[in-house]
Amino acid sequence: MTRGLRQALVDKIPAENLSYIYDSYDIIGDIAIVRLAEETAKYSLEIAEALMKIHRNVKTVLAQSGAVHGEFRLRRLSYAAGINKTTTTHREYGCVFQVDVEKCYFSPRLHYERMRIARQVKDGEVVVNMFAGVGCFSIVIGKHSGVEKIYSIDMNPVAVQYMQSNIRINGLFGKVIPIMGDSKEVIEAGSRHVADRVLMPLPEKALDYLPYALLSLKERGGWMHYYDFVHCGKNENPITKTEQKVAGRLHSIGADFRFSSGRIVRSTGPNWCQVALDVVIKPNLKV
Ligand SMILES: C[S@@+](CC[C@H](N)C(=O)[O-])C[C@H]1O[C@@H](n2cnc3c(N)ncnc32)[C@H](O)[C@@H]1O
Repeated sequence: MTRGLRQALVDKIPAENLSYIYDSYDIIGDIAIVRLAEETAKYSLEIAEALMKIHRNVKTVLAQSGAVHGEFRLRRLSYAAGINKTTTTHREYGCVFQVDVEKCYFSPRLHYERMRIARQVKDGEVVVNMFAGVGCFSIVIGKHSGVEKIYSIDMNPVAVQYMQSNIRINGLFGKVIPIMGDSKEVIEAGSRHVADRVLMPLPEKALDYLPYALLSLKERGGWMHYYDFVHCGKNENPITKTEQKVAGRLHSIGADFRFSSGRIVRSTGPNWCQVALDVVIKPNLKV
């Protein structure tokens, strides 16, 4: 993908700047989001036009500066080329997601992970999604499993609005239940011991919110899908490292558990990656 972009730019930007083109970019619906290094920022138009030539379906190119930030996990975006807009419609596994890429979190890179979780959900299960965004995990699960209900919590009001329309578009009214608020408060106030499975797709808060994930599970226990970012040196195993961290926290709150599986979801930087752990929480909860 990147080689294509770099190759397309060979005659357009100086050779010494070409190596600063980022390795990857996101395509969400008809919007491409490309990260620009300082060395290539002044060539944003050339880069954007090259991207639109490679991907004929892309109508808008936005430039992202810096990492995803803040409680709502948003990107800092500026217009680079094409139609000046930040809203689009993305399709994945037969699901349709409307999203404002500037005001809501959305990552097309998690598509495999969403389906991986959906495939584990058994008929009649109740799921709590603690950090639901515009509803992607919940909607893929709603469409591709026999789930009964998915309580889908997010504290970004714009994301919840998009989640509501995505629920309608995908015909999941009554199955995916959007809830606006801090998942810690929502679970404490009204979702204790309701779930067979809980999802925690927010690495920045997952460890702190572990007690509330356990609180949402039925007293007989259930499944927890935990996500984290981990830094790993040469001889370290990212999954083992994450398991050790989570085990420490789970032991400290008196949970009985078993790690079922772990996987590296994606690389997020030099020696950094995102890890997913599937954890069986056993019945004797002391939370
Ligand atoms: C990394 S995004 C994941 C969104 C979604 N699951 C997805 O994969 O597209 C994390 C989401 O958690 C929300 N969030 C952050 N803190 C929260 C909290 N305490 N309670 C509920 N939602 C929260 C953010 O607004 C954001 O939409």
